[in-house]
Amino acid sequence: MNAPLIDPFARAIDYLRVSVTDRCDFRCTYCMAEHMTFLPKRDLLTLEELDRLCSAFVRMGVRKLRITGGEPLVRKGIMTFFEAMSRHLGDGLDELTLTTNGSQLERFAQPLWDAGVRRVNVSLDTLDPEKFRAITRWGSLDKVLRGIRAAQAVGMRVKINTVALKGFNDAELFDLLAWAASEDLDLTFIEVMPMGDMGEVQRLDQYWPLKDLRARLAERFTLSELPYRTGGPARYFALEETGQRLGFITPLTHNFCESCNRVRLTCTGELYMCLGQEDMADLRAPLRASEADAPLEAAIRAAIARKPKGHDFDYSRNQVEGQVSRHMSHTGG
Ligand code: GTP
Ligand code: 5AD
Ligand code: SF4
Repeated sequence: MNAPLIDPFARAIDYLRVSVTDRCDFRCTYCMAEHMTFLPKRDLLTLEELDRLCSAFVRMGVRKLRITGGEPLVRKGIMTFFEAMSRHLGDGLDELTLTTNGSQLERFAQPLWDAGVRRVNVSLDTLDPEKFRAITRWGSLDKVLRGIRAAQAVGMRVKINTVALKGFNDAELFDLLAWAASEDLDLTFIEVMPMGDMGEVQRLDQYWPLKDLRARLAERFTLSELPYRTGGPARYFALEETGQRLGFITPLTHNFCESCNRVRLTCTGELYMCLGQEDMADLRAPLRASEADAPLEAAIRAAIARKPKGHDFDYSRNQVEGQVSRHMSHTGG
């Protein structure tokens, strides 16, 4: 067994997020431009190469693997990859999971379950079909809802990720809450981060700090913080009156970097040590240079030794600071 991955700030890295494609069948306005240039297919790591890389991370102490994109379920042959990764479950890996826009979930729910996926996070920002179409630029809410139900029907726990957007979904807060409760879904809100080219979207205009969202909730409910954690960045609160649990991901108003346990691998083999920094390490070169594991493991260790303390996102001076030009779809959120 290899020594665990420990970064310069004594944080143990046991969570790997893997973006298997930069492509997506939606174009959420805060995530992508309408006309995106995607990577040529020849630049992508093959599924076998991704397997080799992920397996190296599992040997080095990664216990949680989250498959993301773009939209992970649009990558051709993706189930072969999930099935391959499932061999690590119970043998180093505690959890194999994914974050998806839900558009293909109806079709993939059963094979994902069969590959050992027990929990899925689905991004959904509104319950209004027209607004849904607008924010995803052409997505069908109905299709996503069918996907969510299919995942529940096979036995998966579903968490909804909602990016909190002022002027977009703030008026829907209590509807989203009621819907999640009635459908037995977990719900987590995320503060919008300044990533991507932001040509047409104004982050500051759409930024809805979660402390304001919580203040709105406090008008009707008593919130108490829960000790519950998933190994992700969310903090969880219960609404005492109903018992409903809500998650909050607050990179802006309550930085959680000091407990960061994760790194991100892109579909071209770049390892980003922080979502909010530009620094990355190329793992494709050592991967392709040798079939031996040692040089690859050394490259991973060298990368972890460069992990920064945290992101520099900041809107507090009423301007966007710490912006990262990379699209979220490149590193998978
Ligand atoms: P759980 O296992 O359910 O806790 O999932 P998770 O929160 O780890 O993963 P999910 O894909 O649901 O993440 C939701 C979003 O949180 C991501 O898409 C990012 O927007 C944000 N997020 C996750 N990790 C980080 C992080 O390390 N830094 C920052 N700034 N944001 C993060
Ligand atoms: N800020 C916060 N969350 C974002 N996501 C995409 N772009 C952003 C952003 N700029 C979210 C998606 C999805 C997850 C992968 O990342 O809504 O839930
Ligand atoms: Fe696609 Fe997710 Fe980005 Fe929306 S947020 S465009 S669903 S990758």
